[in-house]
Parts: sequence; C-alpha cells; structure tokens
Amino acid sequence: MGRDKRSWAEPWKVKVVEPIKMTTLAEHRRALTEAGYNTFLLRSEDVYIDLLTDSGTNAMSDWQWAGMMMGDEAYAGSRNFYNLENTIREYYGFRHIVPTHQGRGAEHLLSQIMIKPGDVVPGNMYFTTTRLHQELAGATFVDVIVDEAHNPCDESPFKGNVDLGKMEDLIVKVGAKKIPYVCLAATVNMAGGQPVSMANAKALRELTAKHGIKIMMDATRAVENAYFIQQREPGYADKTVREILKEFCSYTDGCTMSGKKDPLVNIGGWLAINDETIFEEARNLVVVYEGLHTYGGMAGRDMEAMARGIVESVQDDHMRARVGQVEYLGNMLIEADVPIVRPIGGHAVYLDARAFYPQLTQDQFPAQTLAALLYEDAGVRAMERGIVSAGRDPKTGKHHYPKLELVRLTIPRRVYTQAHMDVTAESVIEVYENRKKATGLKMIYEPKYLRFFQARFEVI
Ligand code: F0G
Repeated sequence: MGRDKRSWAEPWKVKVVEPIKMTTLAEHRRALTEAGYNTFLLRSEDVYIDLLTDSGTNAMSDWQWAGMMMGDEAYAGSRNFYNLENTIREYYGFRHIVPTHQGRGAEHLLSQIMIKPGDVVPGNMYFTTTRLHQELAGATFVDVIVDEAHNPCDESPFKGNVDLGKMEDLIVKVGAKKIPYVCLAATVNMAGGQPVSMANAKALRELTAKHGIKIMMDATRAVENAYFIQQREPGYADKTVREILKEFCSYTDGCTMSGKKDPLVNIGGWLAINDETIFEEARNLVVVYEGLHTYGGMAGRDMEAMARGIVESVQDDHMRARVGQVEYLGNMLIEADVPIVRPIGGHAVYLDARAFYPQLTQDQFPAQTLAALLYEDAGVRAMERGIVSAGRDPKTGKHHYPKLELVRLTIPRRVYTQAHMDVTAESVIEVYENRKKATGLKMIYEPKYLRFFQARFEVI
C-alpha cells in the first residue's frame, strides 16, 4: 500500500480521559420520557455517546490548556485579545475584529447594524439563529442555495454553492438597495455539512460587486470547507488548508463566527469586518450586548485558547483526521444501506429520516422520532434537523416544511475514538432494521423562538 493511502489516524495521543457512564435501556426510556422526547432536554449524564453537536464540545490540546494559564483578565486591553486579533488577521485575513461570546452574538450585532426593516437577506440555506436575528432586525430571508442541496441522494461535490441564477433573479425582483448583504455559509450546516467551491465564492464576488452588495460569510466551519476544496476542486490539491482558507475569505467582506466549532474551543466567537464604518458601529454596539470591545463576553483565557486553536485547526493533518473520522462513520452506514445525506459532510453524518420512515407525514416529526429512538437504543444523542428546527413562518404562523428531514450525528473534534464510531453505527443499523415499528410524535409544548431547543413531544 502506498504511503499516501494509509489511514487517517489522528495526529495526537490521549493525555487525560473523562469517564462516561455506560447507560442502560431502562435508563434511556426513563430519561427520554422525562425529556419530552427532545434530545436537547436530556441531561448529559444520561448520555453515553454525545453526538448532539460539534459546538463547544471540542477537546483542547495541551498547548491550548497551557494558554489558559496565560489569561490576562484585565477588564480592558487584555494581551490575549491582541493575540487573537492578530491570529484572525493572519489566518482569515480580515481587517477588524469584534469579539463576541459566541456566534449568535456576532449575528445579532451584524443584523442590527446592516439590516433595515423591509430588507431581504439571501443565503445558501438558512441557519436557525442566523435567520432569526435577520428576521428580528426586520429582514426576510431568501434561500439561494443550489437545488442539489435539497436532495440527500445527489452526489455533487459542492452542494453548498449559491445558485447565481437565483441570486440574479432576486436582485432584479427586489433591487440591490434592499439587499444589504448575502450570507454565505461555509460549510452549510443545514444542507448536511456541504461545502462551497472557491469558483462559486469568486463568481458570487463578481456578481455582488457589480451591484454594491456585500458578502458576509458565516465562517463557523470555513476550515472544513477549505479542506473539501483541497480534496475536491481542481487546482487546489497542492495548496494547504491554511492558504485555501485565506483565499476563500478574500472574496468576502467579513464574517460572523462561532468559535465553538473549527477553532477547537468550548466557547467564544467574533465578528470580522473590513469596512471601517460598520466596524466603528459594531465596536460601539458590542459594549451594550456582549462586553468591552477587547473581550466581548470572553475571559482572557478563552481568547488565548481560541487564538491557539485557530493555529491548530488549519493544520492539514488535523483536518484529514477530523473529516476522516466523520467519513469513517458515514461509510459504515452506507455499507449497511442506511439512507444518509451524500456526500458525507464535514462535521456530521446526516440520517435521512424521510427514507427511514415513509409511513410518517412530516407533521408526525420523523426526524424527531428517529433522534428519540436512537437515544433509546444505545444512549447515543443526536439532533433533529427537520421541520422542528425549521420553525414557523413569522408572517403566516404556519410550519416551514423543509425538503430535508434529517437527524444529525455530529462528531465533536478530538473527543471520541473509532470504537465509539463502531458502536454508533451498530445502533443506527439496529434502529434502521426496526424502522417499520415507528409511529411518530405529537408536539405538546412549543416555545415561541427556536422551538427545537425546548419543545416537548408525546408518542402517537
Ligand atoms: N452558524 C452556524 C453555521 C452554526 O452551526 C451555528 C451554531 C451558529 C452560526 C451559531 O453559533 O452557537 O456559537 O451561537 N451551531 C450549533 C450546532 C449550535 O449545533 O450546529 P453559536
């Protein structure tokens, strides 16, 4: 076997372990009823393998932990902020940085500053918190992602791309003045962790430049996106993930960032922007909602850990093992004919709940049902990404009916072993074999905002 064909084994070894409880079927059943069949309402101590999210669940390196001891907890002007600012400038290439407690803090600031009531914000599929902040600021979100993204079986390599035809039509229909920016997510979480190609980002830049429309990136998983470009896009095989990331960012005007994903930490985020005026306003507004402009809700030590995490996150070997582990789980499921979103995403494997449960209508919450049954089987916690996550149309009050009805098995970075992936696959396969028995769920409590976090259900 050639050296380049060898396995994706991790470029690290384990120094500290965190014991987890080996839970039982009876415990799962009790916990699930108490949690109203919503995996967000389970206690973490009742979970065996936690694949709810890759957000803030990363394992830090010894170098990051050492950085935690170097926290400068001064209220103003912490040296860790300047280190973080320099690191973001160096790796992402943006001019101005406003720190925030996490991604939605940055989304809030950006939406309040850039959106006027009646505006329209196009995006390559929605994300829950991002769209809600746009709507709360008075905008309407319009999905301009390519059609392939809505088809779980389509094997196109860049299913996160913006459909430039849809984008042009929207500009003609509403006028460029009503579009403060395009929100370009890389990778696209709700589409299954699917990447955007460099060619697409470049073409979007050319189109929006003609109309004076800005591109604000959701850079939450942009390093994973850069890895896919390296693996899949002609002309990038010999470039490093680090180089690709910086080129990608150069086609955008700034970003919101959840530091809890790519940057390998447990909390943090930022807003980056090249425009002087928007930066001034964001730096002013951050003190109202987040904290002073040199900490934005983070401790000095959090900023140091994030700066160091960014440096580690762009290493090619790290990304190969990170995405390699996700693909390892996905390929086991494909081999067992379990329906999943193809190609396998960067941070998660997405189960196609419609294909699991053709006997259920979307109002019977197939993905919520599947997430509940998975937890019941083996204590593996996943997340619904279907009709519950999509929420209601703020104008009509009706459910959004997304084409994708998915359950996300999200892999935290540097946390679980290959054996955990094996156990997860065995459980998913067992639940798939029992698919005909599922009867669906009824929602018995629905919160007003981001209902998926706290909604409660009963078995039909
Ligand atoms: N954008 C994307 C693409 C995200 O995935 C998230 C969070 C955010 C923004 C918001 O960032 O949580 O730091 O405020 N996604 C998590 C998830 C919650 O599980 O996918 P945040």
